[in-house]
Amino acid sequence: MRKPLVLVGLVVIALVVAACTSADDAAPTTTQPTTTTSSTTTATTTVPATTTTPVAQARPGAADLGDSLYAGIGNGGYDVAHYDLNLVIEPDSDSIAGIVTIEATATQALSRFNLDLIGFEVERVTVDGDQAEFTRDDAELVITPNRDLASGSVFTTEIKYSGTHEPFRPEAFNGTETIGWTDGSDGTEYVISEPDASRSWFPVNDHPSDKATFTFSLTVPNDVIAIANGTNTSVVTDIGSDTWQWSMDEPMAPYLATVIVGDYEILTDDTGPVPIRNAFPAGYRVPSDVDLTNDIMDMFIELIGPYPFDEYGIAVVRGFGFALENQSLSVFGPELVFADVIVHELAHQWFGNAVTPADWGDIWLNEGFATYAEFLWTERQFGRDFIETQFRDIRNAINGNANFSPPGSPPANALFNGGVYIRGAMVLHALRLEVGDDAFFETLQTYYQRHRNGTVRTADFIAVAEEVSGGQLDDLFDAWLYEDDIPEFPSG
Ligand code: ARG
Ligand code: ZN
Repeated sequence: MRKPLVLVGLVVIALVVAACTSADDAAPTTTQPTTTTSSTTTATTTVPATTTTPVAQARPGAADLGDSLYAGIGNGGYDVAHYDLNLVIEPDSDSIAGIVTIEATATQALSRFNLDLIGFEVERVTVDGDQAEFTRDDAELVITPNRDLASGSVFTTEIKYSGTHEPFRPEAFNGTETIGWTDGSDGTEYVISEPDASRSWFPVNDHPSDKATFTFSLTVPNDVIAIANGTNTSVVTDIGSDTWQWSMDEPMAPYLATVIVGDYEILTDDTGPVPIRNAFPAGYRVPSDVDLTNDIMDMFIELIGPYPFDEYGIAVVRGFGFALENQSLSVFGPELVFADVIVHELAHQWFGNAVTPADWGDIWLNEGFATYAEFLWTERQFGRDFIETQFRDIRNAINGNANFSPPGSPPANALFNGGVYIRGAMVLHALRLEVGDDAFFETLQTYYQRHRNGTVRTADFIAVAEEVSGGQLDDLFDAWLYEDDIPEFPSG
């Protein structure tokens, strides 16, 4: 009954992806002032002078984390542990009034530090309860606490801000798509942040290498509900408004944070291995493929390892044109609620969300794995030969097509081009054929287990694959990840 949708999907990808001009702007690495200390040594002594450890001098944190594709995102000098987003949301005026509280550890002695924030008016900033000076510099919020922060100290920053949310056009889509805080077609408000639009709705260290836990306190008019990542911990009703609290207790990359405000119903299902809470707009007819969620969940738990979070759900948003794997709550456009996409976004909870690339240049670690998961689901129903044929057919159809970048080196202005998806999946399939099923699935399991809740680079995956298989795999990965030409599949 089900027809293979991969090729259909590829046609869509090919149509959507604009010709990739190579935009290899290497991120400028911020040079930090070096502190020189004069050490006094006694000239007469015969004992070699020991250099005394210089007293760490506080200096500004970097304004940029040096992402290989995108300059300006993320900041150095601290590591965020927790975000509390307290937002009063007024859908009628498209405005937000927020207090964001950020708990972080200084990773150097800091005289000042940056957050990423675009738009809004910042009304007040405090650090450890004391008012701090701040300036706005383009997408940077530069904060000078009234005394230096010692390296290793835990500090709390509170930012009070307000204004209207504005659509954001990331370089990742070459300026052709707007994301950020968005109005759906039925009055729903929702947020899409991947890759770098978190900074368009809250002050943040907007880079996937700095994961943190999140709590949300969302005040909205009584006639709508507010949904966010994690578990609903309370709803407090007031005159005219309700405050919805949500808690994401596992570390989350900021791009996976989401808020949905609308006339929604939450449907729960506790019959499977993980509690499901799906959010649908009032009156929405739920497609039957949603009923596959528990089976798909079972498959991943069996093949990869335990589901990484406490609950899972999808949220359908009218007027949204794709799907995104927000942590524990994937968001779907109404046209995308079918098996392959349900499989894809669920797979991202393991690959992308629990195990997160530390650099956007490694996006194939998300999209290649989630796409491969679709093949694993297909294989369960149609058998191994079926996907072998699919892979070879697709390889032959797209080899030489510049819209499919080598998966390990996507262009900055077409981050989500077809190459990171289907060619990313081919990397995994080639590995499977090379090392055999046992070593392949053990590699996926070990990689997940070892890096769950953390961040990774491509080299971390290769290291696990080599460790498990006991072989040298550099040549295989180099050819499949970085060459323009797609190799022939090993015979297996
Ligand atoms: N990570 C999303 C996925 O599951 C894709 C995001 C693409 N974003 C977009 N605005 N087209 O594939
Ligand atoms: Zn994906």
